[in-house]
Amino acid sequence: MPTQHSRIRTFEEYTDAYKRSVENPEQFWADVAEPFTWRRKWDTVVKADLVGGHNEWFSGAKLNITENCLDRHLATRGNKLALIWEPNDPKTRQIRYTYRELHQEVCRFANVLHNNGVEKGDRVCIYMPMIPQLAIAVLACARIGAVHSVVFAGFSATAIADRVNDAQATTVLTSDGLNRGARQIPVKRVVDEALETCPSVRRVIVVEHLGWPVHMEEGRDVWYHEEALEAEKSCPAEEMDAEDMLFILYTSGSTGKPKGVVHTQAGYMVWADYTFRNVFQVQENDIYWCTADIGWVTGHSYLLYGPLLSGASTLMFEGVPTYPSAGRFWEVIDKHGVNIFYTAPTAIRSLMATPLDNVLSYSLDSLRILGTVGEPINVEAWDWYHTHVGKERCPIVDTWWQTETGGIMISALGSISPLKPAHAGQPLPGVQPVLLTQEGKEIEGNEEEGYLAIKYPWPGMIRTTYGDHERCRQTYFGAYPGYYFTGDGARRDKDGLYRIIGRVDDVINVSGHRFGTAEIENAINENAYVVESAVVGYPHDVKGQGIYAFVICGEPVKPNQLSHVEASIIETVVAEIGKIAKPDKIQIVSGLPKTRSGKIMRRILRKVAEGEISNLGDTTTLLDPGIVEEIIAGKK
Ligand code: WTA
Repeated sequence: MPTQHSRIRTFEEYTDAYKRSVENPEQFWADVAEPFTWRRKWDTVVKADLVGGHNEWFSGAKLNITENCLDRHLATRGNKLALIWEPNDPKTRQIRYTYRELHQEVCRFANVLHNNGVEKGDRVCIYMPMIPQLAIAVLACARIGAVHSVVFAGFSATAIADRVNDAQATTVLTSDGLNRGARQIPVKRVVDEALETCPSVRRVIVVEHLGWPVHMEEGRDVWYHEEALEAEKSCPAEEMDAEDMLFILYTSGSTGKPKGVVHTQAGYMVWADYTFRNVFQVQENDIYWCTADIGWVTGHSYLLYGPLLSGASTLMFEGVPTYPSAGRFWEVIDKHGVNIFYTAPTAIRSLMATPLDNVLSYSLDSLRILGTVGEPINVEAWDWYHTHVGKERCPIVDTWWQTETGGIMISALGSISPLKPAHAGQPLPGVQPVLLTQEGKEIEGNEEEGYLAIKYPWPGMIRTTYGDHERCRQTYFGAYPGYYFTGDGARRDKDGLYRIIGRVDDVINVSGHRFGTAEIENAINENAYVVESAVVGYPHDVKGQGIYAFVICGEPVKPNQLSHVEASIIETVVAEIGKIAKPDKIQIVSGLPKTRSGKIMRRILRKVAEGEISNLGDTTTLLDPGIVEEIIAGKK
């Protein structure tokens, strides 16, 4: 691999790299960045600002990330597989691209974008299923310096419109439809509905996937395959500044609507590559599979950019773990000889619940390293994964990070580091985590618990929230100036290994997807029956956390209307956000526990949802303590 010297091979090397990264970050990152393809090197390695949030990396450098993902590998890896695509239906054809072929496809797509008026700096919204053209489209944007904003293809029309309008996207890339297990979904129709309220969009480029007839808006919509016929096969890469925007990715926070997390060119590139190669200990002939959708940050950094930057072979899967059977993951691993497998605890938990034969009937001999991401992994799921998938010989890297961190922050490195179930472990070189008290004091020593914060910038960190830097400053640097605040609580064990406990803010993590409770409440409140609502998370066997909604309706709901009202509320949430945010439980209540100043006491609602009603704490400050009894009596 090209950046061999930044590859850590032993625990001693890790300790040494970590020490150097703290003592002299500038020298450390200059060394790591050295082997990439730069049009011009940087003037300054890092400009740190953990108060205002104006952090910069490699300022002054010029580059194009796709030259690093593709062009620089052509001489030595031109015929090596870059992207392997496994379709939803195992009986249909897989598609494979070598680095040379992928390079060509990206250039062709980039020319189609150019020919359709997309220019450097324009925002392009990508709403596509997990097909090769999604990966190609993302890279094509980066090739010409357009800013990609991928929206997961399960979001609703309203959610797309919010994101398109926030970014003022000029172009939308989509497909006719998508396959998800046994279901097919008319994606283009969702986009059409969204664009009724998106005046900034001038062009929609549609990739044919299912061969479905779709409405094509005259003067706005074009077919990709028709445009590609005329497009040239080569496309020079746009020269970008280190701190030019690479992409926007929307994610939920504890307040208001989702925010557009912005990542830039050079720092993100160095971080995605460095973390990928070291955490997964990738070898030249490995087949690597990350099951995340490119619509989430994991798909960005560890399906696409990280693996391609490192010159690895990355597998992309269109389908779901349970189609056509609950053995599909394991079948794909055997079929492609997957060596490194990276998935989410929720997927493991859902497969654990199916007969063991689903996994035992596959050999899984090719596997060497397993990973998880997105939420805390419970010990039971860790053991199952370790025993039945890893056959007790594969280490599990439990990788903690966030959309805002760009890449993995705390994790074991392959089999190099100590492994402890349910513990993410030690920070990567360059990451300086601390535990803070609520007042913001650093907690020294081990066997301690606190708010997880980071006290020095790292190359892949968030640069801003699109169009609103103040929101970025407040959210991440405002609570404890001088630190990046993660929103997570963590525990440091006696050996200094970190265990992530979960969010300490009003964010819930459902099947590894983040939602703000306020975001779901706003959606529920759009329903005509609803006057007010309060949403909390509760432990859920498969999803990690489930969504529990307490809802006040305008008129009393009669028992025979209950199921109708609940269905109507669910329909509203699906329309406002998408199926992934559907409440698991809805309880109609006549009031909510509020303080005299009108603040909802979520602590009480959380306890009720968790079923911990014996220990509700002090309820005497409530405006109407009686309401708590009513709520307990009606608990779902
Ligand atoms: C949670 C996903 C425990 C955490 C990459 C974080 C985890 C949020 C882990 C970010 C892990 C992610 N163990 N919790 N290994 N990984 N989280 O932005 O609460 O979708 O703040 O990024 O997921 O979610 P996001």
